[in-house]
Amino acid sequence: MSPLNKPEMIPVGVIKPPYTQLKTRTPIPMASPALDLTLIASGREAFAAFVGDDGTQEVMTQLANEHGWSESRVLNGGVTEAIQVLADVPTPELLVVDLTGADDPLAAIDRLAAVCDENTRVIALGELNDITLYRSLIDQGVEEYLLKPISAPAIEAAVTAAPRQKGSATQEVKNGRQIVVVGARGGVGSSTVAVNLAWLMATDQNLRVAVIDFDLYFGTIALSLDLEPGRGFRDALANPGRIDGLFIERAMVRVSDNFFVLASETSLDQPVDFDPVAAEMLVEHLRQEFDCIVAEVPRGLLTAYPSLLSAADSALVVSDLSLAGMRDTVRLAEFVKNAAPVGALKVVANRAGAVKKGELSKEEFQKTADLKIDCVLPQDLKPAVDSVGAGKPMAAVAGRSKVVSGLRLLSRELSGVEPVASTSPLKRLFKR
Ligand SMILES: Nc1ncnc2c1ncn2[C@@H]1O[C@H](COP(=O)(O)OP(=O)(O)OP(=O)(O)O)[C@@H](O)[C@H]1O
Ligand SMILES: [Mg+2]
Repeated sequence: MSPLNKPEMIPVGVIKPPYTQLKTRTPIPMASPALDLTLIASGREAFAAFVGDDGTQEVMTQLANEHGWSESRVLNGGVTEAIQVLADVPTPELLVVDLTGADDPLAAIDRLAAVCDENTRVIALGELNDITLYRSLIDQGVEEYLLKPISAPAIEAAVTAAPRQKGSATQEVKNGRQIVVVGARGGVGSSTVAVNLAWLMATDQNLRVAVIDFDLYFGTIALSLDLEPGRGFRDALANPGRIDGLFIERAMVRVSDNFFVLASETSLDQPVDFDPVAAEMLVEHLRQEFDCIVAEVPRGLLTAYPSLLSAADSALVVSDLSLAGMRDTVRLAEFVKNAAPVGALKVVANRAGAVKKGELSKEEFQKTADLKIDCVLPQDLKPAVDSVGAGKPMAAVAGRSKVVSGLRLLSRELSGVEPVASTSPLKRLFKR
């Protein structure tokens, strides 16, 4: 079922009688007598769909017509019927199966895989909005899982998307790192940290990086990069069924060849239909295309949807060194420890030295909070001001400042790129 090695296309619409009769087959109850399952047995076809309801059938028929495939390949049934029908005949190049009603969709897909030819592309449809199911299906070689009701653009995008490069021994599949950034309090610099880390990974380390601003109303990541975010990101978050490579590609704003942004400037009177499964699917897709995904999530959203942390490689809680910051860091860190994988939590103290009186020292903060601070970034006004003036991150305008040096070290630790050996000319001289 691996979608690699796209087979030679059989001229569409060419189905020559006599159709091979299905061998030992128990009759399948059919809602529509117009559909003839035996049609699928006429050699390797371009397309077949097994769908269980009228709405889906209509959309699939439209798809077939648009691609010049025979409508008769839209069959009534679901994955069980697909398994029965395809057991002894060549499987089509593209197979759409409805998982609705299957007791165990994963087991059903396993059985389907056993009767499918190597290079059949499978798109699954279903009603279960569940990221674990989605991941497992993709792992099993299903190319896309779309939620019902299916829209014509969603199925069209899934069909025309480049086949997933999964399960190939020869082709490398990215499994990008996900870094979640959350501010313990407002104004502590979480957006600054997120955008600079992403910029450093893309520019210093030459990695493919996507930065996501989940603060859909008040996010400042696009602003700090002087970008105009479109509405694609907001649409994607409301429609898990539309999340696919093409859709995401359209929603992303390009900063450079290897640095992309997903952000939104939603007007305040516009409600956002945030679906956490859509967000997880989105990140899951991006992981296949990018080396690092830096996602800034407002703390309210994160606590409402802890599943946003479930696949994070690192979860950064950014705070200042104030007492209130420490208190909120403790609470948020506890939350992150429970929701994110073990060891993902990192505490970043930003704007250290900003307040002369009343600020905790690193040691006081760590002792009272019973938490390790992984990185301290100083308050550094000039880079911050220059950054705003230039519409670029601090790292782009003040690469040698202390705050950017700290961020650079942190970015390497998070992306897994080894720190470069000291570039001091004297040290290089002595090394010879
Ligand atoms: N280390 C730093 N030194 C100096 N200024 C900083 C530093 N970090 C952030 N700032 C500045 O602090 C302000 C707030 O930063 P930022 O917008 O990143 O915070 P935030 O936590 O995302 O805020 P919000 O809660 O409003 O989203 C900005 O003007 C930024 O330039
Ligand atoms: Mg912010």
